[in-house]
Amino acid sequence: MAYKITLIPGDGIGPEVTRAAVRVLEATGLKFEWETFQAGAEAYEKYHEYIPKELIESIERTGVGLKGPVATPIAGGFASINVALRKKFELYANFRPIRNLPHIPTRYPDVDLIIVRENTEGLYSGIEHEVVPGVVESLKIITEKASTRISRFAFEYARKNKRKRIHAIHKANIMKLSDGLFLRCSRNVAKEYPEITYGEHIVDNTCMQLVMNPYQYDMLLMENLYGDIISDLCAAFVGGLGFVPGANIGDHCAIFEAVHGSAPDIAGKNIANPTAVIRSALLMLRHLGEYEAATKIRNALEKVYRTRDKLTRDVGGKAGTSEFADSIIEFMESESGVAPAAETSHA
Ligand code: NAI
Repeated sequence: MAYKITLIPGDGIGPEVTRAAVRVLEATGLKFEWETFQAGAEAYEKYHEYIPKELIESIERTGVGLKGPVATPIAGGFASINVALRKKFELYANFRPIRNLPHIPTRYPDVDLIIVRENTEGLYSGIEHEVVPGVVESLKIITEKASTRISRFAFEYARKNKRKRIHAIHKANIMKLSDGLFLRCSRNVAKEYPEITYGEHIVDNTCMQLVMNPYQYDMLLMENLYGDIISDLCAAFVGGLGFVPGANIGDHCAIFEAVHGSAPDIAGKNIANPTAVIRSALLMLRHLGEYEAATKIRNALEKVYRTRDKLTRDVGGKAGTSEFADSIIEFMESESGVAPAAETSHA
């Protein structure tokens, strides 16, 4: 049986890093049928739609997507494709594990943090209008339904995976109604999970606390915009944006993508680190129940970092994106006794 997966290569470094992830996935021996679609500016040129209906239909059919980053124009232009896809498919839970890999020099070793970010509302929705020239309003939508749903997702994950603590991150001292509602929902859900310690921290203090001592946190639960910002802060604990994977999960489908963006400054040079997308692909394999294949990739990835001779430039190496993927595949195939496949066979 082949898994049908919707593949969105994305913009900038997206095609390079997703190609690396696809090659690594195929080297597990599992079979995949990729339904590949562009989204964003490139899709518009071809289909006159930023999210082509063929892409929507594909995700509805496959239920699983692997996605590269898609660029969003700043202060004008079309609305974020990423936000639109999350809303369209009600991918309400954004799950981002922050974990070190071996031998990457960072300020803090052995970080193991999980960010659970509400993915469909909040200030991040970009619902804005001009009231009169010189005055704009941006609406922060917080609902009991979405806040309870994301809290339950976090606590259920904690229970199943034996995590010990959840902190809800907020600014309810200022946004008393909106963040206040988010907190009330988190507190109500927390009561049903007495084995998990529940705490609350204000978002600005959280940034300082994280930088001082990330070990004080276990899981962080928050609304959309705080989750976006704190994810990048936490990426710095584990080597940068090239390392942090993500999953956007809903009740009917899931899209896996790295935390990082399209990195236009390094696009098209074969120098981006594909680790974050490969780790996102690992989350996808676990979602599909393919634990053995996920472990195989994780072990090979760790070996690449342990041996250190095929690292990408963001962590002081000289290897290109594709060579890095070659190296993972070589380790995987040397474990299973199969001759390594050349990159061109997967182009
Ligand atoms: P970015 O994450 O693309 O880049 C920030 C910095 O991190 C850059 O210096 C970049 O070179 C570096 N970086 C990122 N990923 C890397 C990797 N895999 N390997 C090595 N270095 C890496 O953030 P930026 O520049 O703010 O955003 C660029 C574009 O990406 C924007 O249009 C933004 O809207 C979009 N974006 C898309 C996302 C998505 O599709 N989920 C998420 C975040 C941003």
